[in-house]
Amino acid sequence: RDLQSCINIDDLARLAAKKVPTPVYDYVEGGADDEVTLHRNCTGFQRYQIIPRALQDVSRIDTRTRIMGCDASQPFYISATGFSGMMCPKDAELAGARAASRFGVPYTASTFSNRSLEQISASSQGDKFFQVYVLDDEQLASDLNLRSQAAGFKAMVLTIDTIVGGNRERDARSGLSIPPTLTLKSTLQFMMRPKWLLQYLKSEGANMGNFPKMPKVSLGDSHAFVEAMSKLFKKDLTWEDARRMNEQWNGPFAIKGIMSAADAVKAKEIGASAVILSNHGGRQLDGTPAPIELVQEVREAVGPDMEIIVDGGIRRGTDVFKALALGANACSLGRAYVRGLSAGGEEGVTRALTLLKSEFERCMILAGCSSIEQIGPEHIRKAL
Ligand code: FNR
Repeated sequence: RDLQSCINIDDLARLAAKKVPTPVYDYVEGGADDEVTLHRNCTGFQRYQIIPRALQDVSRIDTRTRIMGCDASQPFYISATGFSGMMCPKDAELAGARAASRFGVPYTASTFSNRSLEQISASSQGDKFFQVYVLDDEQLASDLNLRSQAAGFKAMVLTIDTIVGGNRERDARSGLSIPPTLTLKSTLQFMMRPKWLLQYLKSEGANMGNFPKMPKVSLGDSHAFVEAMSKLFKKDLTWEDARRMNEQWNGPFAIKGIMSAADAVKAKEIGASAVILSNHGGRQLDGTPAPIELVQEVREAVGPDMEIIVDGGIRRGTDVFKALALGANACSLGRAYVRGLSAGGEEGVTRALTLLKSEFERCMILAGCSSIEQIGPEHIRKAL
């Protein structure tokens, strides 16, 4: 079938392009401004080379590890991505949560999910993290935190790089709105993907799961978009807020969007258990380094115990291996899994995870590593 003929993550992107309307595909694949950072996130991995160690016993490979206090069958898991109802109208977030659970890795639910935290939690047994965008509406923000604890989310991920939305010009050109609305132009585009359109019309579609009344936001009008986002988010968020949120959470707490060793040290000082090195997949501030380029210096700065998670540009098992060899504990997946979600819902996500698993395991064997702990600095060097 379609999905089985996809033999890598880029194949899933090509299939996704045939399944979802072009504005939705562009929303997923696009980045900010000139998309320099978007591309660098991927090419950054080429700056490092894997050094295989010879004649190790690799007859048994153990890829199990722990990510933010949870067991994981692989050193990667699903990152927060909002609005899954656009990519998979039928199941929205439930597709990714179920696939992750069956695969044995954590799933992160975005504040901007199309299904509620309670629905996502009930959809599978697997461990889940709650990703927080701090909202200006304090009541709504604190309700969400309480709901996520009650629904059994295991860790909190505080995203700090989205005080305003990034300048994503593909969305400005396509005129996409969130949730998608049926205008003359969009209806024509959506009709090119009749299966998607039918599902979208039948489904809860892009209802905002966690918000009773979410404003409609047109990405086509970038001024209005920035305005709407600014109204929604707390703009005077500081380290003191992060400290308070960590204290109130009582569990593993990650700050996502850290892009410097100095801020990683601050995150450690306020008691965060993990930093997620991320530039939001190149969707926010264009011109930053790729997260993979920061791993070594952040590890040196925070010491051996703090959890470091890397996201951005991970499309291959060898990318995960490089991140670990440089000192990260795990990677989180954005587009690699969203491509699967768009291409084939739950099965598509499973396909994405399975492809990365087999690539990662092959990489471990060829590099001479039989467990995650064995992957270290001796397996990597900067390309000359
Ligand atoms: C995202 N990302 C994101 N991050 C977050 O903290 N909350 C969110 O709601 C979203 N939404 C979202 C939607 C889509 C369509 C994408 C592609 C990304 C960022 C995401 O968690 C992650 O940081 C990046 O996607 C990682 O880069 P790659 O793996 O996509 O290259």
